[in-house]
Amino acid sequence: MTLTAIKKPSIMTSASQDLQLTDEGRLKHFLTIEGLKKERLTEILDTAETFIGVNSKSTKKVPLLRGKTVANLFFENSTRTRTTFELAAKRLSADVLNINVNVSAVTKGETLLDTLRNLQAMQCDMFVVRHSASGAAHFIATHVEPHVSVINAGDGQHSHPTQAMLDMFAIRRNKGDFAQLKIVIVGDILHSRVARSQIHALNILGAGEVAAVGPKTLLPEHVRDLGVTLHHDFDHALKDADVIIGLRLQKERMRTALLSTEDEYYRSYGLTEKRLKLARPDAIVMHPGPTNRGVEIEASVADGPQSIILEQVTGGIATRMAIMSIAMGNVEKSMNAIPAGTPETNFATAATAEIQSDEA
Ligand code: MLT
Repeated sequence: MTLTAIKKPSIMTSASQDLQLTDEGRLKHFLTIEGLKKERLTEILDTAETFIGVNSKSTKKVPLLRGKTVANLFFENSTRTRTTFELAAKRLSADVLNINVNVSAVTKGETLLDTLRNLQAMQCDMFVVRHSASGAAHFIATHVEPHVSVINAGDGQHSHPTQAMLDMFAIRRNKGDFAQLKIVIVGDILHSRVARSQIHALNILGAGEVAAVGPKTLLPEHVRDLGVTLHHDFDHALKDADVIIGLRLQKERMRTALLSTEDEYYRSYGLTEKRLKLARPDAIVMHPGPTNRGVEIEASVADGPQSIILEQVTGGIATRMAIMSIAMGNVEKSMNAIPAGTPETNFATAATAEIQSDEA
């Protein structure tokens, strides 16, 4: 597969902004959080809130993407992200294609654009893309037909906007006002697209303080430019923390030895029960997964009462449903379909009633 036209993240940022919004300022593609207005993020969080109810019903479906086809194009491994995107699309009543790139024509030398053109010829309406190259989703968005939306499910070290939004969703549900919060992000910040997207989202949502923590090799000085405080002493950074977000050591992206040993890393940066006591007593513990127990986090913390790691996964479905329906332009449509004065103002619930009466 060739990706010759991929641009570097720094060049992409403003171009991605122009590309991902319609002329009216609505989200059409979701490529990066950087540069989005607070209202766009709040719209996603508020819409996700309405889908939480759908996901706990016995009929977990709304018809917002009925008749649409979503193609999951994963060029990199994934468990949580791919399956929650699939579930989100299915719960919105879309048809879903999971393209297993390892056994697709891509392995026979077909270019990315050929793959896309073929999927477009099958009338796909949305591509959910994960790729190891930074800028891949942006590249695809510049080549799709006007009716197609592209959602970035992680591109290289650049961005993972849907993960960051589901993390914001979990923080807002548990802690409320971002302005009052100290958020500590610990680990391999250097290689983490998740951390980069989280930092942009937290800045846009007005978080009180965002502290980035890690060894010097994984936390370069330029991260400060993202508007965070840098710390190499985890114990010190944990003081007054309301939210602690662990990150995986992204060994697949480390080209040189950036760590001495995992044991030493755990001693300095592992989130242990003892360390957790240094944060506020009601601090919450988060991690995008996959977690390495005994390397980044002690098992009893990952499974403990302050951990909301599984809640992140559950809320991730609602958040991805929100992003997909907004990108397809279906949220306003559904809201308008509910007569004014309807006591049930939750459009997702009203939409469920619609699909249930259709199926009856
Ligand atoms: C990612 O795709 O970046 C994951 O969600 C986090 C990780 O792989 O560590």
